[in-house]
Amino acid sequence: MKILMVCLGNICRSPMAEGILRSKLPDNYIIDSAGIADYHVNEKPDKRAIEICKKNNINISQLKSRQFVTSDFDKFDIIYAMDHANYSDLIFKAKKEVDKKKVRLIMSESPNTEKKSVPDPYYGNIEDFEKVFDQLNDVCTYIAEKIVKD
Ligand code: 4NP
Repeated sequence: MKILMVCLGNICRSPMAEGILRSKLPDNYIIDSAGIADYHVNEKPDKRAIEICKKNNINISQLKSRQFVTSDFDKFDIIYAMDHANYSDLIFKAKKEVDKKKVRLIMSESPNTEKKSVPDPYYGNIEDFEKVFDQLNDVCTYIAEKIVKD
């Protein structure tokens, strides 16, 4: 099973989601992340994202941002979008019906229906990163349980 996490810049939400989900699954699951935009290509995750993950015993400091490429549709089984804008961008890039089917809003995996998207914390403060961590940690628990059962 190969899972790709996608946000806008690939320096805040999706690298956190990648590290969190990886920490909940055995090593044979491939987890990666990418950004819709190329603003931060080759950069490490945002310092605040690294810090919050580290506080929770997850090391994402070695990750490097990359831009989503169309061939990712062939490489991954599930592609999780962090928000509605990422979702629409991915659906637009997916030319084949099988590729569109791989794209899901990550929050759609949570039984708690009040939050539909993971808010972008880039222009926020450390508390916003903490909230994003908790939100991703919750939903990734459901994703990991579901994947292992399937
Ligand atoms: P991310 O956050 O999509 O969660 O990685 C962002 C990081 C950078 C920018 C936007 C969102 N930016 O505009 O540079």
